Amino acid sequence: MVRQSRTFLAAAISAIALCHVAHAVEPSYTADGLLIRPADYREWIYLTSGLDMSYGPNAAAAKHSMFDNVFVNPEAYRAFLASGTWPDKAIFVLELRGAESNVSINKRGQTQNASVMGFEVHVKDTARFDGGWGFFDFRTPDPAKPLPDKAGCRECHEKHGAVDTTFVQFYPTLFDLAQQKGTINPAYLKEASAPTTQTSAPNAPPY
Ligand code: HEC
Repeated sequence: MVRQSRTFLAAAISAIALCHVAHAVEPSYTADGLLIRPADYREWIYLTSGLDMSYGPNAAAAKHSMFDNVFVNPEAYRAFLASGTWPDKAIFVLELRGAESNVSINKRGQTQNASVMGFEVHVKDTARFDGGWGFFDFRTPDPAKPLPDKAGCRECHEKHGAVDTTFVQFYPTLFDLAQQKGTINPAYLKEASAPTTQTSAPNAPPY
């Protein structure tokens, strides 16, 4: 009897282990190295939303108001909680959605609508990409080609991202943790501590 239930227990444990393996999220590519659009990212870990963030030269001229939502695969999130940095095979999705005012009972502020206006992916795959990270834009057909450096993604992410080319400074549940673990990029710390040039309002009192 004891032996039987042990056998049953062992079978149940390996079934659970198999399920776990089956659900692990990793970047998947076609034979010629194009990234397949991650399908279930809405079941991953949610990191943040930005509203009308602007850091490109034409940002101020943007016609639409937009939210961006950032998701990361659960395995990478758990590894970050333990180490303060991202493991190999981390995948991030940046989903852009239209923002709307005055929908339903809403009288102030903005809500997100169903129209996805952009879909970008950032993948850590050290065997595949120079600098360890690849960038993809799924406005081009799915599967997507890795973007060349001239697209500008890598430069901004490497220079301004707080941890390992990602914008952890904007991910409220992770930034303190990265500080505790000492994994913040020294270039970011330098940038953050640099004095900002304050412009005072025209009628501000002189103090
Ligand atoms: C001028 C700076 C800049 C450039 C250029 C840029 N990004 Fe980003 N990216 C950001 C910022 C800032 C965030 C954080 C967004 C937030 O907090 O909501 C971000 C976040 C992301 C994320 C979410 C995960 C992360 O890395 O933190 C992805 C995916 C992403 N960008 C992809 C791209 C791709 C693909 C390109 C090139 C086509 C690109 N980015 C170009 C500044 C930039």
